[in-house]
Amino acid sequence: MRKILNLEEVEQIAKDILEKINKKINKGATVIAFYGDLGAGKTTITKEIAKQLGILVKVVSPTFVIMKIYKTKNDKYKNMVHIDAYRLDKSKELLNLGFNEMLKDKDNLIVIEWPERVEDCLPSNTHKIKLDHKDDTKRVIKF
Ligand SMILES: Nc1ncnc2c1ncn2[C@@H]1O[C@H](COP(=O)(O)OP(=O)(O)O)[C@@H](O)[C@H]1O
Ligand SMILES: [Mg+2]
Repeated sequence: MRKILNLEEVEQIAKDILEKINKKINKGATVIAFYGDLGAGKTTITKEIAKQLGILVKVVSPTFVIMKIYKTKNDKYKNMVHIDAYRLDKSKELLNLGFNEMLKDKDNLIVIEWPERVEDCLPSNTHKIKLDHKDDTKRVIKF
């Protein structure tokens, strides 16, 4: 459990998350699942990860489009797939968007917000990261 008190710390957290996931060798895609309520910081950390992967375009929350795919400048993860499952009713809807094909591609880093909505689609090697917040000054992260 680590406290994230401010946005400056988000940079270090994103760095540590990338370092951690880099240690594991996957056959297919690398998947990060960010659990946590509205305002916990899921999108904020995802944006910082995107920045560190060299994504230059603005990463916005994919709440209404469900999924966005970005090209990175990173050698290991050539694409970052950002998914917001909040508006999905069933995990089948994610499968209809081609999720299983994306999972097969080693070049993909898949980041999922609201993973509890699609829990049964998540591969067993998903990096599950839990965010919690009481108010804007008390944020914690577990990974
Ligand atoms: N660690 C943090 N320190 C300060 N503000 C934060 C932090 N994480 C998120 N915020 C702020 O909280 C708001 C909501 O964060 P967001 O990342 O959109 O949450 P989520 O995606 O979990 O709903 C944003 O305005 C963001 O700037
Ligand atoms: Mg969000």
